[in-house]
Amino acid sequence: MTTRATRVLTGITTTGTPHLGNYVGAIRPAIASSRQTGVESFFFLADYHALIKCDDPARIERSRLEIAATWLACGLDTSRVVFYRQSDIPEIPELTWLLTCVTPKGLMNRAHAYKASADANQEAGEDIDSGITMGLFSYPILMAADILMFNAHHVPVGRDQVQHIEMARDIAQRFNHLFGQGREHFVLPEAVIDEQVATLPGLDGRKMSKSYDNTIPLFEGGAKGLQAALARVVTDSKLPGEPKDPDSAHLVTLYEAFAEPAERAAFRADLVAGLGWGEAKQRVAQRIEQALGPMRERYADLIAHPARIEETLLEGARKARAIAAPLLAQLREAVGLRRMVAVTAAPAAATAKVRAALPLFKQYREADGRFFFKLLDGEGRLLLQSEGFAQGKEAGQWVARLKRERAAALAEVPASLGEGVSAQDVAQALAQFDEE
Ligand code: TRP
Repeated sequence: MTTRATRVLTGITTTGTPHLGNYVGAIRPAIASSRQTGVESFFFLADYHALIKCDDPARIERSRLEIAATWLACGLDTSRVVFYRQSDIPEIPELTWLLTCVTPKGLMNRAHAYKASADANQEAGEDIDSGITMGLFSYPILMAADILMFNAHHVPVGRDQVQHIEMARDIAQRFNHLFGQGREHFVLPEAVIDEQVATLPGLDGRKMSKSYDNTIPLFEGGAKGLQAALARVVTDSKLPGEPKDPDSAHLVTLYEAFAEPAERAAFRADLVAGLGWGEAKQRVAQRIEQALGPMRERYADLIAHPARIEETLLEGARKARAIAAPLLAQLREAVGLRRMVAVTAAPAAATAKVRAALPLFKQYREADGRFFFKLLDGEGRLLLQSEGFAQGKEAGQWVARLKRERAAALAEVPASLGEGVSAQDVAQALAQFDEE
């Protein structure tokens, strides 16, 4: 087996407009990690999740656009990262159902988000289920499908999401146990919380969060808006000339999230020497603007050309589905949603017929000297056609790998699908090889 890259996956619920805290706490570290070698990143817009929290179509639409534009403007390299919309991957809701059927209801009863709503209802003397949709209740199963669909190893999230990742592990384990027959369909994912990443304080010094209404917008409002927001950051009432304590000033934390070490030291020293808050705020605004200005320009350009964003996301969806479809085909097989072939012990003659109808690999050499293979189904229909190889051995190795790793190898094999053939058809054919 080849050693696989570490798969990192995370989703962003598309309900709001990104703020400075989202950038420093999630977007910037995610993009940085996606540049590492040996890492395969999957970032997606969790727009099915957004529907659970929001029934305003205009807001959903706007937020999807803004969040996609933000990630692209911040430097996401979509040639390295699979960047897509959850709702462009029909395999995800299908997997959600397969997982729903093995998820204990009791596990969902314990999910924080649902429990908080149920508890609040009870406290208010209302019916325990008042205002709670099945979407909210099953939220963790959809999230498990997001993660398991791509066999992600690491899921960078905030602390509030750790329980959901644990539930995804539980559900994966259960599915593997019930339907694995000795093989692990799903990798067990792990939550990753980056201790290095500072939580950014908001205007009032509490964690910057939409729910506290203390956010500083990332791009909206322009340089002026940024300056105006920073002017509202709470400070103590020391006057210019009086020494300030850098350790107790949120303004310093905001500055340090963007400044180099030398700049940080200088800023701190100036505050201790009596720099006034008004001037200090201007310096912070300038430093942050220096970092954000060029990105804001790209952002404005992207927002003005939504068709480009659309195209980028559809390309991401194609890449994502090339991985999702074969795995889903394997899972359908595993749970018994199979093609109608002889199921019960068939009479000898019939068995022979079924055998004859099995798919078949053919290896051959063309007049140009290159080596090829193709996969045909039982009726001789072309399912998969390889590219040409210089060595016969290469073709042979790919055939062996496809038989052995099946869906997993399909994502990488240098071959194209036959006319009207889906990745799912091929995965189904490959699944028949180890039943021989
Ligand atoms: N629930 C996550 C949040 O609100 C978003 C999300 C959806 C997610 N699916 C995911 C995060 C899968 C990580 C992996 O932040």
